[in-house]
Amino acid sequence: MNYTKWIAHFERNRKDRPEPDWSAPMSICPKILAAMLPSLEQFRLGDGGGPACLIAHDADRFCGGATPMRTIVDLWFAEEAGHARLLGCAVERFGGRRITSHWSFTAFCLCRRAVGVRCELQVLLLTELVSTAYYRLLRRHSPDAPLATMCALILRDEGGHVAFHRDRLASAGRSPLGLGGALWQAQFWLCGLAAATVLWTSHGRCLGAIGGSRSEYFQEVRHELGRFVLSLCRALEPNSGSVRPIQPAYFVPVRKEMI
Ligand SMILES: [Fe+2]
Ligand SMILES: [Fe+2]
Repeated sequence: MNYTKWIAHFERNRKDRPEPDWSAPMSICPKILAAMLPSLEQFRLGDGGGPACLIAHDADRFCGGATPMRTIVDLWFAEEAGHARLLGCAVERFGGRRITSHWSFTAFCLCRRAVGVRCELQVLLLTELVSTAYYRLLRRHSPDAPLATMCALILRDEGGHVAFHRDRLASAGRSPLGLGGALWQAQFWLCGLAAATVLWTSHGRCLGAIGGSRSEYFQEVRHELGRFVLSLCRALEPNSGSVRPIQPAYFVPVRKEMI
């Protein structure tokens, strides 16, 4: 894996980050605000508001000691902490509170601790993918300009995080092709859709209130999952333009631009 490239990416990404204008006038109908606020409060806690490191019992296997991977993981989690800061500003703007616990966050951390670091990294990757779908809808339907700017900033970071996961999986030889790859893809899709369902359960009310829909959200999720698998294929088989990962037809409609 090209560590230098990723350290440079995170260093570069710290620059040129226009802060949303949190003091801009606001006019959101109270009904929408009431649906949006709990969602933002929970996201502030879940997206960088918790431990700023890998917490699996064997996390040192992945980034122990003063290694370049440790530096990259620290930079990645620093960006996540930045998301919690931005979401905190949004919560404050809308008159909410910075919650410190929620059942979904407790379950999320328990799950990360209990499984090994390889599984924790997949849990985090899937969380980034389904959260990307959430932020896309929030930005698209945002009733508030600073909130939309915040989503754009977070989406920019998440794009880098997802690409980092792709590189680390590719360098570990995690091919989605062949029989083993097909099994990996099946569990990846299944876990991804399960994560998206959990997210929709807690945040569907918010997305629905601002004009989003369940089908729109899941369309984004399928797009993100499919695009990730495809980019992993391409990272491993850069010379094969015809590589076509397994795409269960009922999970994702294969799009022309994905091939
Ligand atoms: Fe994040
Ligand atoms: Fe992230």
